[in-house]
Amino acid sequence: MTDSRTTTGKRAERLLARPYAINGLELRNRVVMAPMTREFSPGGIPGEDVAAYYARRAAGGVGLIVTEGAYIGHESTWASRKVPRLHGEEQLAGWKRAVDAVHAAGGRIAAQLWHVGATRDPWTGPVPDADVLSPSGIDLAGAPKGRAMTQADIDAVVAAFAASAADAERVGFDGVEIHGAHGYLVDEFLWAGTNHRTDAYGGDLRSRTRFAAEVAAAVRAAVSPEFPVLFRFSQWKGGAYDARLADTPERLEQLLAPLADAGVDAFHASTRRYWLPEFDGSDLNLAGWTKKLTGKPVISVGSVGLDREFTGPQGMSFKPGATGIDKLLDRMENDEFDLIAVGRSLIADPDWPGKVMRGDATAVFAIGQLQSLA
Ligand SMILES: Cc1cc2nc3c(=O)[nH]c(=O)nc-3n(C[C@H](O)[C@H](O)[C@H](O)COP(=O)(O)O)c2cc1C
Repeated sequence: MTDSRTTTGKRAERLLARPYAINGLELRNRVVMAPMTREFSPGGIPGEDVAAYYARRAAGGVGLIVTEGAYIGHESTWASRKVPRLHGEEQLAGWKRAVDAVHAAGGRIAAQLWHVGATRDPWTGPVPDADVLSPSGIDLAGAPKGRAMTQADIDAVVAAFAASAADAERVGFDGVEIHGAHGYLVDEFLWAGTNHRTDAYGGDLRSRTRFAAEVAAAVRAAVSPEFPVLFRFSQWKGGAYDARLADTPERLEQLLAPLADAGVDAFHASTRRYWLPEFDGSDLNLAGWTKKLTGKPVISVGSVGLDREFTGPQGMSFKPGATGIDKLLDRMENDEFDLIAVGRSLIADPDWPGKVMRGDATAVFAIGQLQSLA
């Protein structure tokens, strides 16, 4: 029988269907589901529908699911009544149901551990009296909000990250991802725009990384040695897409080295468009640089399967022809990074990974069909 698939379809299978292992955790392929907040868990309890949602993506062929951000067990992060928590008996029982369903569908699932920092508006959550906490008591725009964390706050939040990681392992998750990206608490420490501290947690980039490294070390110590600990970070922040933590590879290394030393097994470099070079003079994206600098497994992400650039719900502006899967496959062929996370395309079509790996041109993409498979 002749294989009627296009060259792209065959390459997609060859490159994306390769197994991969993170700290001994075997993944059946290179496609990761990106963490995406849903707010479908009243009381912080993921129900049957949440289990079915994740199991559906596992059945569609994704290798590793990273859950939507799940609140750790510290009231200062409980910004919504419907975001799931990794804390509390009922909440953990709900997660166990989701984990079991994903495993039954042949997938793997890691929990994303989330503290929202100064982005929280206390009145929207279940504990309006809890203080809004951040490194310097300012929001992403620099305006006063809540209060700066004391050492006791820092110790309590670090301990809460560790406790939720231990709970995640106990209910059967295959790993955890520390949410250190997008302007939430961990990132607020990393970024000079929100960290004006003059103690050991503020100052140069290495000092600003101290909190993140403490979280990573505490999480590492709270779980088994073989349990994968991932760390997600980004240059961009919510509402500040041009923000940068590191403007040279040397500075990026200052950020990543202490995290690798603290026991992070894999990095998830969050970019909005995976094809953009991170620094002048090289085509490598942020994930590519992260792999080069740390030698650790790295996940890339950003507009995979979106065949036009998309700049947000208000603007709804599309730039034609920005990306196709061929450019992604080129980078995977070069081993620039190890895994690719897919977000919106996996909401649009739960069967996206299987279809793309089979070269099936009916794969639905978040914005239109992907031309290069057709
Ligand atoms: C609805 C939605 C919710 C998101 N929630 C999270 C989240 O909880 N944690 C996180 O790290 N990133 C979150 N993101 C960012 C995604 O993980 C991903 O990086 C981004 O959507 C780019 O990937 P894509 O172009 O494949 O969608 C969210 C994105 C979307 C669209």
